[in-house]
Amino acid sequence: HLPVDVDISKLAPGQQMTAVWQGKPVFILRRTPEDLKALQDTKLIADLRDPDSSIVQQPDYARNWHRSLVPEYGVYVGVCTHLGCVPAYEAATGGPNGGRYNCPCHGSKFDLAGRVRKGVPAPYNLPVPPHVMTSVTTLRLG
Ligand code: FES
Repeated sequence: HLPVDVDISKLAPGQQMTAVWQGKPVFILRRTPEDLKALQDTKLIADLRDPDSSIVQQPDYARNWHRSLVPEYGVYVGVCTHLGCVPAYEAATGGPNGGRYNCPCHGSKFDLAGRVRKGVPAPYNLPVPPHVMTSVTTLRLG
């Protein structure tokens, strides 16, 4: 598979876009400072099934609290880890838990680092595909 270069110059803070990599949707999310703060909220972390991503679903450079290379940009394979539906982005509305992804099929919820909440069918976090920034406006997948 060849790497895929994605132009992220139009992506505003609080928005997400979907690219295609290896036939799968990949969410690219530009997180706001509030989104990043929400990811570190202890109440949210207590409600995550696998807050440390112990089931390895990311490259080493994304084994951190923001699960990405650069905190501002979250990059996740957009395929629910339950049965493969595509979760929908819901931007933060000012609530304590920030934005999230909601799976339309059986209600799984993921935070803006792709981490699955407790009590839903999805067994683990959304995978992080290999990614690198090749310029300030270009993200390379693969
Ligand atoms: Fe997402 Fe079942 S496929 S909750």
